[in-house]
Amino acid sequence: MALTPKNHSIPLSDGNSIPLIGLGTYSNPQNTPKGTALAAVKRAIEVGYRHIDGALIYCNEDEVGQAIREKIADGTVKREDIYYCGKPGDTFYPQDENGKCAYHKTDLCATWEAMEACKDAGLAKSIGVSNFNKRQLELILNKPGLKHKPVTNQVECHPYFTQPKLREYCQEKNIVIVGYSPLGTNRDPSWVNLECPPMLEDQLLTSIAKKYKKTTAQVCLRFNMQRGVVVIPKSFNLDRIKDNFQVFDFSLSEEEMKAIEGLNKNIRFVVLPFWADHPEYPFHEEY
Ligand code: A2P
Repeated sequence: MALTPKNHSIPLSDGNSIPLIGLGTYSNPQNTPKGTALAAVKRAIEVGYRHIDGALIYCNEDEVGQAIREKIADGTVKREDIYYCGKPGDTFYPQDENGKCAYHKTDLCATWEAMEACKDAGLAKSIGVSNFNKRQLELILNKPGLKHKPVTNQVECHPYFTQPKLREYCQEKNIVIVGYSPLGTNRDPSWVNLECPPMLEDQLLTSIAKKYKKTTAQVCLRFNMQRGVVVIPKSFNLDRIKDNFQVFDFSLSEEEMKAIEGLNKNIRFVVLPFWADHPEYPFHEEY
């Protein structure tokens, strides 16, 4: 399939489809000026993005919504052309009296049934999961009375963490992988594992980028898109938002795809260590 700026969606198992590239919108709320997300999302829609990844917990979902509304109002897009991914919740990071994370008693199957009810009520068109390992996916897929299968699993995925096993499993089950941190994160030490070197400085990626007169970031994005992995690069920089969408005028050869796959280090940038003692912490298992 030739991917184009106007036609780069892939099918989901529920009959809907998802654009292979979307804009990520997580930015530390403490040092992101108000209005930045609004401007970024408007810019993204103007340069062709039709998929936005957001969440209530990013503390800017109101701006993301306002941007989408403004771009619909000025005729740039129609609501039905936008794929918006949201992630609801009630209390953010609840703590006990000792300041330790206070966990919900998580029942993933019951949570999934609530998600199914959202779809049935028309509150969401498609429902998926995030950070699920194989065991957790199986739990849902084998749930007695399962009504709607998860259509996506949003997990970390990029040339340094290619997810070969989880990807194969998801392919088998017709679950699309949405790759977060496709550029290797912002390397904020408060939540990023810096054992992994900066991916955008990788020699092989840089040399391939040079060959096509593209940026290393564009090569990283194209790599995942060509293997059917959706990418949601975050940028609030108006030039980089545009650059990251310029991934339709070149393609990587089979050898280059293989060589990039060979960069896999099996080390996550996003470990979420503060939740490692949660009974459903997903990253103790290999995949
Ligand atoms: P900024 O918002 O200033 O552009 P990821 O999506 O992998 O988590 O990466 C996001 C980080 O990468 C952000 O810090 C973002 O910063 C930066 N970034 C986004 N696009 C590019 C690019 N084309 N080149 C370099 N850095 C980028």
